[in-house]
Amino acid sequence: MELKEIKIIIKRLYREHVKKYLNKIFLALFLSIVVAISTSGTAWLLDPAIKKIFIEKDQTLAWVIPIFIIITFSAKGISLYFARITVIKVGQRIGAELQKKIANKILAADIKTLDNRHSGKYISNIFYDAGAVINLVSTGVLNLMKDSFSLVALVGLMFYQNWKLALFAILMMPLAAFFAKSLGKRIGKVQGEASIKTGELVVLLTEIFKGAKMIRIFQKEEEETVKVDQIISKVTEKNIKISSILIRATPVMETLTGFMIAGFIFFSGKLINSGELELNNFFSFLTAMMLAYQPIRSLATINMTIFQGATAAKRIFLILDEPIETKDDFKFHDLKLNQCSIKFNNVNFHYSNTKEKAVKNINLEIKGGTVAAFVGHSGAGKSTIISLLPRFYEPQSGKIYIDNQDIHKVSLRSLRKSLSMVSQDIILFDDTVKANIAYANSKASDEEIVEACNFAAANEFIKKLPEGYNTIIGENGVKLSGGQKQRLSIARAILKKSPIILLDEATSSLDADSEEVVQNAISNLIKNKTTLVIAHRLSTIHNADQIFVLKNGTIIDSGSHDYLIEKSNEYKSLYQKQLKQV
Ligand SMILES: Nc1ncnc2c1ncn2[C@@H]1O[C@H](COP(=O)(O)OP(=O)(O)O)[C@@H](O)[C@H]1O
Ligand SMILES: [Mg+2]
Repeated sequence: MELKEIKIIIKRLYREHVKKYLNKIFLALFLSIVVAISTSGTAWLLDPAIKKIFIEKDQTLAWVIPIFIIITFSAKGISLYFARITVIKVGQRIGAELQKKIANKILAADIKTLDNRHSGKYISNIFYDAGAVINLVSTGVLNLMKDSFSLVALVGLMFYQNWKLALFAILMMPLAAFFAKSLGKRIGKVQGEASIKTGELVVLLTEIFKGAKMIRIFQKEEEETVKVDQIISKVTEKNIKISSILIRATPVMETLTGFMIAGFIFFSGKLINSGELELNNFFSFLTAMMLAYQPIRSLATINMTIFQGATAAKRIFLILDEPIETKDDFKFHDLKLNQCSIKFNNVNFHYSNTKEKAVKNINLEIKGGTVAAFVGHSGAGKSTIISLLPRFYEPQSGKIYIDNQDIHKVSLRSLRKSLSMVSQDIILFDDTVKANIAYANSKASDEEIVEACNFAAANEFIKKLPEGYNTIIGENGVKLSGGQKQRLSIARAILKKSPIILLDEATSSLDADSEEVVQNAISNLIKNKTTLVIAHRLSTIHNADQIFVLKNGTIIDSGSHDYLIEKSNEYKSLYQKQLKQV
């Protein structure tokens, strides 16, 4: 990352996040000045201490100066403590703001955006990158202020004690600065790589959790272990590299300091011999120079902290800046529902990562209160058509209407309120049964929830669970059977009471017994509703008012079962191969 870009990012970080804490930063700035003054104060006090107490043997100052020394040291300690606390708070708050922004962004993002990025990567942004920004704001900003002020004060003192010696010492400093600059660039690159590897690690770990059973049945534990080991080794390698670049400053700085002190003693010996320097000035100067070592070292590495923070902030801003295509536009009215008829007019859609259209020239009309079934081989585009209705994806051309209102010209809120979706992959939260169902309507009363469960043929099994409706069902409902999960998701859809129902192979993963129960639940769910169903089951298809036969993204035939079995070869072959046996 170029210096120019870093500046832009730092400026943005300042504008959007740091600026509002400016009073706190000023407080830290003030405290930094106190730290700087008291640091050089201790070095200065050695001058009168040696002169008055040791050489002139002054009795009063013999106890006054030690008291001042205690005061300056404690002033330094206390102000440093409060300065640190202040910036730590600011840093953590800013980190939290960024984390919240990322989380909000994930919740608002288009499905298309989320499709193209693994969830683990977002998690790594939330932890790793936000952490680097926190470090930049808390450690970086404070050190920058405290150490530059201290350096200025100490160098000032050095000039005060003897300008010739001071000039000599100053000559050594640009060397350190030059060296530090080259480290900054290298560390930024490694830091980026470490972040990517950490992201990969999170990705892999989430997949190990999700794929727990699959890994065991395919006996891939060893392979997965190797993969995890490799990534962890890479992350470790990068982290070691970062640390070693960071501490690479130490030997160089130590050596430089050695040169400085050696040269300094040599040079000051000459000055003392020629009577240009007194012993008390010498000791005060020496102390100031030694004390200047810490701020120099810290300032020499500060550009790395800044670099790390800026590259991390860049990755975060990239996420935050991702445009959102599907969002609620307040200029649009709510959808006015009447019959709940649905119309697709020449709809074309391709996924953002493919050129091939997933659905082509879709024209269809579904009357309100009827059931439309979609059949076709897998990959024909059935799920895609259904996910266009809630605007999970936006068609590139064509229009979709509900009750003659373009769904892209009504509020997203009202659109999604009118739709319920039950699909093959059921998402349940690790919470109680009740909470999972009430997800559809948090205001639902217990009676309403039980009623919904009755309709969904779920009440009976729920009552038998260890704690009934208050049973915690585990991550994604691991403690329930497939059919039970499906019925919970149907109960949830029933509770939503929306007039349009989308069913995506809702029963395809169930055995015959569960299927019958679930099928009854579905019949209750879709009663008097407009329903779009993707089905493999003959019964569903027979009950449909209209069947659309899809092939490679196009509707090639449509009509009733009796019509299609006569006229459509595709339907006939589908029927014989797929639909019939199940
Ligand atoms: N999220 C996605 N990103 C890219 N391509 C996708 C995505 N989902 C589905 N597809 C592709 O779109 C086509 C239609 O898929 P889909 O609608 O899921 O088919 P069906 O539900 O009929 O089995 C397929 O070629 C599939 O590979
Ligand atoms: Mg599908």
